[in-house]
Order: sequence, then C-alpha cells, then structure tokens
Amino acid sequence: MEKKNILIIGGGGREHAIAWKLKQSNRVGKLYAIPGNAGMAQIAECISDIKATDIDKIVEFVDKHDDIYMTVVAPDDPLAMGLVNRLNERGHRAFGPTKEAAIIEASKAFSKNLMKKYAIPTAKYEVFDSAEKAKEYVATCDIPVVLKADGLALGKGVLICTTREQALNGVKEIMEDKAFGAAGGKMVVEEFLTGQEVSVLAYCDGETVKPMPASRDHKRALDGDKGLNTGGMGAFSPVPMYTDKLKAKAEKEIFEPTVKAMKAEGRTFKGVLYFGLMVCGDKIKVLEYNARFGDPETQAVLPRLKTDLLDIFDATIDGTLDKLNIEYSKEACVCVVAASGGYPEKYEKGKIIDFGDSEKNAIVFHAGTAICGECGKIITNGGRVLGVTALGKDLKDARKKAYAALGMVGFEKMFYRSDICSDGL
Ligand code: AMP
Ligand code: GLY
Repeated sequence: MEKKNILIIGGGGREHAIAWKLKQSNRVGKLYAIPGNAGMAQIAECISDIKATDIDKIVEFVDKHDDIYMTVVAPDDPLAMGLVNRLNERGHRAFGPTKEAAIIEASKAFSKNLMKKYAIPTAKYEVFDSAEKAKEYVATCDIPVVLKADGLALGKGVLICTTREQALNGVKEIMEDKAFGAAGGKMVVEEFLTGQEVSVLAYCDGETVKPMPASRDHKRALDGDKGLNTGGMGAFSPVPMYTDKLKAKAEKEIFEPTVKAMKAEGRTFKGVLYFGLMVCGDKIKVLEYNARFGDPETQAVLPRLKTDLLDIFDATIDGTLDKLNIEYSKEACVCVVAASGGYPEKYEKGKIIDFGDSEKNAIVFHAGTAICGECGKIITNGGRVLGVTALGKDLKDARKKAYAALGMVGFEKMFYRSDICSDGL
C-alpha cells in the first residue's frame, strides 16, 4: 500500500494530537506541519516560518509539494479565511469546511439566526449593529445577560454580565472601544443559561453526522472556575452526566437539524462540527458552534479513537461517513494543561522544560513549545505549553495518571489547575 503524506495546519495541542493519531495509521507516511511545535517536530517536518494564517504561502507550499495527499486545516482563522476553498480550487485535497460553511463559527449572528430559522434550541437573543440600540436593550433586559462580539475573537469576545452596569459597559467595550477588534462590528445579546456544559465534536460529510464521545473543557484559568477565560485549561472524556438518552435527544434535535440546515442554506458542512451544549435537566441548548476540532477537547477524545483517523478524514471529504464504523475505546481520558505563569494575560517565553519521566507515563501533547536555537533544548513558546494526557480504566484512574505525570514536568513559573475532571467523578 502506498503511504500518504499529510500536511497539518496549526501548532497547538490539538494539532499535536491530530498528528500523533495520524502517525498511528499504517496508511500514513510523512507528516508536515505549518507551523507545528517542538512536540510535532518529533513526528513531522515543521515549517515554522509560515504562520497558519499565511494562506497564500500555505497554498504555494502545497502547490510545490506534489507528495502531499491531504491538508488538514485545524484552526478557526484559516478556515474562516477560506484556505480550504483556495486549496480545492487548485485541485488539492483538504480536510475542513469551506469559508461559506465555517461561518457557523465565524459569525455568531449567522449561527443564532440559523438556529432560530430551523428551530434548533438555543438561548433567546437579539442581534445589534449599533451600540445605542444595544444599550437601550440591555437597559431593561433580564440580568444576568451574555454579550457576544459577532466575529472570531480567540475564544474571548463573550462577556457574562451579572449587573446592568456591567452590561452597559460591556456594550461599550465590544462596540465602541472595539476590545475584540473587528469582531465587535455587530453583537449578540443573549439570555443567560444555567446548567452543565458538554462539548460534542462530530465528523460531518455534508449529510451524515458522526458524533465523537462527549467531553468537557475547563475554560477559566484557576481552580473552582475562578479567574479569566482561557483557551481551555484541561478536558476529559466521557462526560458521565451526558447519558444515552440525552445523546439521542441531541442527535435528533440539534446535530442532524444543523447539518440539514447548513445544506439547505447552500453551505454544506464537511469537517468537524463542534457543538458547545448546555444541559439543564432534560433540556439541551446550543451555546456555540465551532467549525473545527476543539482545543483541548481533542486531546481528551482522539486517544480514545480506535479507527484509523485518515479513513475518517477520507470518508468525510468523500461523503461516505455512513459506510464507516467509527470505534472508541471504553477507557476514559483526562488532559491537564501546563501553562506559563501569567496566562491568559502577560507571560514570559523561553523557559527550559524539564519533562522528567512524564513521557513514559502519559501522552504529553505540546502546544506552545519550541526548540531553543542556542541550547537545542525544548523551551516554552506560548501561554498553554503542554497537555499532559492519560487514559485509564475510568475517569478517576485517568485523572490520577495524568496528574502523576504532570508532577514530573517542570519549567519556571509553570501553573496548572488541580481540579480538572473533579466535576466528572
Ligand atoms: P462561547 O464562545 O459562545 O462558547 O462562550 C464561551 C463560554 O461562555 C461558554 O463556554 C459558556 O461557558 C459561556 N456562555 C456562552 N453563552 C452563554 C449563555 N447564553 N449562558 C451562560 N453561559 C454562556
Ligand atoms: N475548547 C473550546 C474551543 O476549542 O473553542
């Protein structure tokens, strides 16, 4: 069998997990990554001087490399910028939604209007394109209220306001001060929902949707869900409260209607669709859609996958997911993020990482890491540095193993949450 070479776009923990899983396939040959990180460099050729958002340079790179069978576009920005469209136009095979479909994440106003039009359960909301109108509305609406900048804002751009004063200031911050840049040209004001959050990532080939096992991430920086919102400080899978009954309900009321709605809108979705759900009793509502694998949810889900990931990517692109049986291990998985002191605000880079015996005892996914040009050692290069991940016979066992391995890792000013998955036990 001829082995296939694959290019992965991105350089975070999620992309390392995708590369690690693809490497286990006996159909996969060489891996490339743009830009990749120090962990990915152990299994892939990393082109670290091209950014994931340099889509012209990426297209040029793929044009020049006839040996690349498929490009996997993992991050939100290049998807929203149309990298998959650009590659397809030039006859290259790419995994991920087109720009037209990626709008389900790139515009919150689009996704909310889609849910309303197709009766997909979500929080009640209003869309505003003027700060004045938004302020008039929040002056009298129910509190707490949630404000969302319309566009991509690196997982920020969402303000949960518990007082009216905060809400009025929030409108100013998003629409007048443009705290989230161009993302704040429009905004969504929505009802505050209570309940438990669950993330479900699903492969979609435009018609068929195949959900992966549920996971949950921990977005706040500090224990007890305190501190600022981050990209995610850890994740676990499965989520015990997400029962088979809830799963069947979500498939019928949310997953299938969403895929049909996208097709009906002329925005056929092929790739991974991420459903951020809020479960309250027997009710499930959509908090958000993402047009890609989640980070760090992917690190907690892919280690449980038994099926060849390249077969899944092929079936997603070719529209044959209905014929593929996707299997998962019954084991549980927990991923704990080791971050740089100060993250998600200001932090230092360039700290030497001591891995100890962690890699013998767990899967250590790299995120913000690089190889030091002077000493050749692996150093920190971002806010989220590593995702120390372990499988176990249940969540308790996986959690114990992940924390034990994390205890073997160290770098100056490293911090992590000590309560990842404590809500899952
Ligand atoms: P989003 O980027 O839309 O997922 O929002 C980020 C986080 O804000 C979510 O994971 C939730 O924790 C929270 N959130 C978003 N929308 C709501 C809502 N309507 N009610 C309560 N919490 C929300
Ligand atoms: N963990 C949330 C996200 O990937 O957006």
